[in-house]
Amino acid sequence: MRHREENIILIGFMGSGKTTFGRWISKNKNYQFCDTDQYIEEQKNRTIKDIFANQGEEAFRDMETAALKELCDRLKNTVVSVGGGLPVREENRKLLKQLGMVVYLRAAEDELVKRLSHDTSRPLLAGGDLKSKIQNLMSAREALYIDAADVVIDTDHMSFEEMYDVISKASEEIRQ
Ligand code: S3P
Repeated sequence: MRHREENIILIGFMGSGKTTFGRWISKNKNYQFCDTDQYIEEQKNRTIKDIFANQGEEAFRDMETAALKELCDRLKNTVVSVGGGLPVREENRKLLKQLGMVVYLRAAEDELVKRLSHDTSRPLLAGGDLKSKIQNLMSAREALYIDAADVVIDTDHMSFEEMYDVISKASEEIRQ
């Protein structure tokens, strides 16, 4: 098993800022960056939207688990942003803990609605009432995100610097 502090794993709902914050960490703190959605899209040479449309959600979830297993074998000093639904599978939550320190970026539902209102890339949010879709998915997932996480950050009024400070302190505590 890897030493848990070697990688920082960002989990959370779509629109919670995993990719933006992950890229910020990698640029400012000298980490590598990996995004599981991007990894799968490059590997399959298709967009997530295409994969959902042609092969369905279950096939995509299998791709996420396979990707996670591959990444567990080789990532080090990397910040990993994972798709919002990846921690839902119990097997994936176990793999995340092996991969590194898991940080749940929590964002208020109203904020997520604002950020996602013009999004067309996420199949699970397409059509219908966005707010109730977000509420339904969130109520099914929140406990699983918390179960997967070593650290929970309420991101709404925090700067990236402040969020990173929380991660650094948690990482020191885990190492002691
Ligand atoms: C999903 C989140 C997306 C992507 C796919 C499904 C989900 O990733 O994996 O559309 O189930 O929450 P982001 O969280 O990076 O948007």
